[in-house]
Amino acid sequence: MLKRFTIAMEQNLLDDFDAFMEAHHYQNRSEAIRDLIRQRAVEKEWDANKPVMGVISLVYDHHRHQLQEKITELQHDHHHQIVSTTHVHMDHHNCLEVIIIRGLAAEVRSLADNLIALRGVRYGKLAMSSTGEHLH
Ligand code: NI
Repeated sequence: MLKRFTIAMEQNLLDDFDAFMEAHHYQNRSEAIRDLIRQRAVEKEWDANKPVMGVISLVYDHHRHQLQEKITELQHDHHHQIVSTTHVHMDHHNCLEVIIIRGLAAEVRSLADNLIALRGVRYGKLAMSSTGEHLH
């Protein structure tokens, strides 16, 4: 059940918030505030090393010697945590690999860091997500 409450804030803070809403296409302030609070809940799970889900994106050159093998080997080391991997051949050189992984936040971060640090990985990003347990 939704509870209503009133928020008081300075005009400049409200202007910032309305700009945020517009930039992210929110239709009303309530949904924007709920999502900001949920975002904070996800960050708390990660900070507290709770079970989380993460999405690792990698762009790399598959011609780089043994890089593909190293990326696959690291994932096999974490096979019990990897939910799914999708590979896209973007052009003649570049591959995009998107890895969905669940585990304790520190383990997920560590795998992402190890993958992203591999020589030949041109872009790497870990998107933090939640198991959903605390997202009401
Ligand atoms: Ni490829």
